Amino acid sequence: MKRVLVATGGGDCPGLNAVIRAVVKRAAQEKDWEVIGSIQSFDGILKEPTEIKILDDAAVKGIHYQGGTIIGTTTKGGPFAWPVKNSDGTWGSADRSDEMIRKLQYLGVDAVISIGGDGSQKISQQLFEKGLNIIGVPKTIDNDLMATDFTFGYQTAVQVCTEAVDKLKTTAASHNRIFILEAMGRDAGWIALSAAIAGGAEACLIPEIPYDINQVVKKLDSRFLKGKGFGIIVIAEGAMPIGGEAMAEESVEVGNPNLKLSGAADRLLYELKEAGVEADIRTTVLGHLQRGGIPMAYDRVLATQFGVKAFEMVLEKKFGHMVASRHPEVVAVPLLDAIGKQNLVNPDSNLVKTAKGVGICFGD
Ligand code: F6P
Repeated sequence: MKRVLVATGGGDCPGLNAVIRAVVKRAAQEKDWEVIGSIQSFDGILKEPTEIKILDDAAVKGIHYQGGTIIGTTTKGGPFAWPVKNSDGTWGSADRSDEMIRKLQYLGVDAVISIGGDGSQKISQQLFEKGLNIIGVPKTIDNDLMATDFTFGYQTAVQVCTEAVDKLKTTAASHNRIFILEAMGRDAGWIALSAAIAGGAEACLIPEIPYDINQVVKKLDSRFLKGKGFGIIVIAEGAMPIGGEAMAEESVEVGNPNLKLSGAADRLLYELKEAGVEADIRTTVLGHLQRGGIPMAYDRVLATQFGVKAFEMVLEKKFGHMVASRHPEVVAVPLLDAIGKQNLVNPDSNLVKTAKGVGICFGD
């Protein structure tokens, strides 16, 4: 039997299980392939004893609509930066990639499918350059990966965010309040933008368009008459005022140097009050609700397409490539085309023009 190993890396995302299931189901049609999963991304291979899971039909039964990932994931470390505790108690890192490749050979792994975002696909490229037969599958709710139209998980996050706008509208209208809803997305405003359009928000603040608080105030003022009115602002976690920076905290997690974005909504509330807005303002930070739970149908379909294609790329030996959606096709693109650059919202795009066309203020 030939073996393909599947790993899920980075933050979880609705649709990961649907990809795993699709890989297993497609591989089963080939009779001479078996699928194994590495637990907690590549940690499962590097740990002693090895933590792997046989992924057969029974293991993937009915998982396509489950959130999370049945093989676990991690945002920490990885084969090139494995966290190591120094003798003085501080943490450093070690490159264990050669050891991992040897271990994969020992386990009889012929190919690897790595499902993950930008960070994970950078690791895929590095492993490919070291000779590993690896295929990437793009994943992130942020939709910020280049070379693919969409990543699975994004539409589910947009749906969660839109439902939050819908719910906040009724309470905001009842109380004549302004609600600020903070959405995830890191440096990209995709989730906030789509949810603002779908939910009918008054303002949408995204990292790609730094805002002028006075423009936001002007928009809110137009929504109130003699103290009556309401307003919803969807703000992306990475948004910033003109001349400012995204609100972020240093990460204290060992092995995960990524800044933690938080505080955009609170800062905006403060700025609005400072600018003289009299209405009550409340904030809601959606956080990981956008990542958990059942993937919506669109994401299940895309994830299934990605899983089937990824295994077919293994058969075709299209290593060093990533699965990508190029509507209406799903294609293989070099990993190098996907990493290094981010897919950000273009302020001149149709989506932004559409939002402006229905009166959404971006603070510009
Ligand atoms: O990249 C996905 C994402 O959910 C971002 O939108 C968010 O900034 C980040 O991950 C949160 O990461 P963590 O779960 O590690 O705090």
